[in-house]
Amino acid sequence: MQQPHRAIAQAGINVALIKYWGKRDAELNLPAVSSLSLTLDAPGTRTEVIFDSALSHHQFQLNGVEADAGRVQPILDAVRQHAGSHGIPLPHARVNSENTVPTAAGLASSASGFAALVAAAWAAAGLDPEDPHKAELTRIGSGSAPRSLLGGFVVLDKVEGQIRQIATPEAWPLRMVLCLTEKGPKKISSRVGMESSARTSPYFASWVSSHEADMQAAEAAINARDLDTLGEMMEHSTLKMHACMMAGRPPLIYWRSATLAAMEQVHQLREQGVSAWYTMDAGPHVKVLCAAEDAEHIASTLKAVPGVSEVLVAAPGPGAQVETC
Ligand code: PMV
Repeated sequence: MQQPHRAIAQAGINVALIKYWGKRDAELNLPAVSSLSLTLDAPGTRTEVIFDSALSHHQFQLNGVEADAGRVQPILDAVRQHAGSHGIPLPHARVNSENTVPTAAGLASSASGFAALVAAAWAAAGLDPEDPHKAELTRIGSGSAPRSLLGGFVVLDKVEGQIRQIATPEAWPLRMVLCLTEKGPKKISSRVGMESSARTSPYFASWVSSHEADMQAAEAAINARDLDTLGEMMEHSTLKMHACMMAGRPPLIYWRSATLAAMEQVHQLREQGVSAWYTMDAGPHVKVLCAAEDAEHIASTLKAVPGVSEVLVAAPGPGAQVETC
């Protein structure tokens, strides 16, 4: 086997400003719509991958505790297959992962988890870091995970499922205030929820057909560093996605009373002249985009909202980074 065979990679979570909801091809995990996200500096995942010929099967440790290796196996096997086709035979791997995403918070940690896993396995295998198959393979883990491979503002294109950075993390000093409400994993996974919306929501077709215009408006707002327009598009996208979910059968209602209370607080902040804008994913938490100088004030205001359990402030961050080889 070629060297190196061990690598560590770090990746931050990403939050979609223009959402992805629905699959065009479930097998390839290709999205029905493009999406536009912001990768954050924290929280995130740090993962070590060691391909070791002494192992008879894959092993996986998460936050120091032995975990189900079935969660990393599809990715590791796909990397081994890809490496094999490049003449690099790889044995089984040992994976050690540390997650700084608050435990059991229901805040999507899968994106940083899969991005760190692929980046580390890719580097350990000695594969070309620019190979587009890397994003394709990350998508096996979760549809939003490839966006965490790149830093700052990232577009994931629905056509080929490829990713492109549209602004670096340093280009615009924004903040994302992560406002955690109810703890615990979500009841309906994104995968199941997307399938249900596509099959039963009368709004799904218009969600898809009206989506491209939102992508273009948001990208233009980022290029113009226009927070108010970006924020407006961001809220429009999340509300449209949730309307589509709610109109399905059975209805998907991920919000809790604290979600609505935090949204109301964001409206009040805006009435006071603060440029703050919310987005919610397939869960009850509220993520608020704002200028760096407003972040502390917004965070302390949201902390006082009944039902809000924790508030974190994150900055735009880099893409998955390989630390050692
Ligand atoms: O990556 P998944 O399969 O967990 O889907 C993520 C879907 C949303 O978080 C609701 C939206 C998005 O674009 O991240």
